[in-house]
Amino acid sequence: MQRLSRQLKKQNKKIGFVPTMGYLHPGHLSLIREARAENDFLVVSIFVNPTQFGPTEDFDKYPRDFKRDRNLASREKVDCIFYPRKEDVYFKDCRTFVYVEDLSDCLCGLSRSGHFKGVVTLISKLFNIVYPDVAYFGQKDAQQAIIIKRMTRDLNFSVKIKVLPTVREKGGLALSSRNKYLSPKERREARVLYASLKKAGNLFKKGIRDANRIKNIIFKMINNKKTARLEYVEIVNTKSLKPVKKIKSGTLIAIACRFGQVRLIDNIII
Ligand code: PAJ
Repeated sequence: MQRLSRQLKKQNKKIGFVPTMGYLHPGHLSLIREARAENDFLVVSIFVNPTQFGPTEDFDKYPRDFKRDRNLASREKVDCIFYPRKEDVYFKDCRTFVYVEDLSDCLCGLSRSGHFKGVVTLISKLFNIVYPDVAYFGQKDAQQAIIIKRMTRDLNFSVKIKVLPTVREKGGLALSSRNKYLSPKERREARVLYASLKKAGNLFKKGIRDANRIKNIIFKMINNKKTARLEYVEIVNTKSLKPVKKIKSGTLIAIACRFGQVRLIDNIII
């Protein structure tokens, strides 16, 4: 991969890069399409990254289907799928990790300790393997995108990070590879995540600024659903990820919630 990328650089080709864990859905495809349109050469990586899953998380159960992904990628005119094995990515005695302080220890970082260290270490390694000019991420994983932007700046990677909007089903549920594990009832009820975020957006438009008040309204809407087990609702500044008291334009509202066994996240930026 490095040899190929170095050759492309010599030819002055602009390399676009979309990192994924595979099981591609239209959310991934929107990143791939934008990247396809903006670059000379497009690399998509497919790697279910063991270091970002906790010991009790769903690494083994995470859906995988390379053939299906390869067909989708070829239809989108992806030039190269980087599909390494675990042992190609991690040295057995690897002792070096990348960790973005503060931003990694709140929101999803609270219940998934070590998760963002795993994500960011992998993404740094992929940047050093693929040499992208531009890398594409989804707003769906807002905290991940914010942390990766900070890491890229802090470590002087010369990669431009682009964050694209969340792609949703008709009912508003954000597309996720994990949705396939929802029962029909859980799937129906999970629509409340986006419904409550939209409600929050509308209340802001009506002039409500108090974060606690809006949080409580979201709590109530979600807790009304039988299969929902709310993990957090946070209203935070997008730079620091610290909670705000007053909501303003640009504030991030982020939710994590289980429906049955399936942990889902969603967010909006006001
Ligand atoms: P994965 O969940 O496969 O997502 C790959 C990329 O697709 C991420 O940037 C994610 O934010 C984006 N994405 C997922 N669902 C989306 C949706 N509904 N709309 C728009 N974009 C969406 O996120 C990861 O993989 C991994 O943590 C990774 C960054 C690849 C590191 O292992």
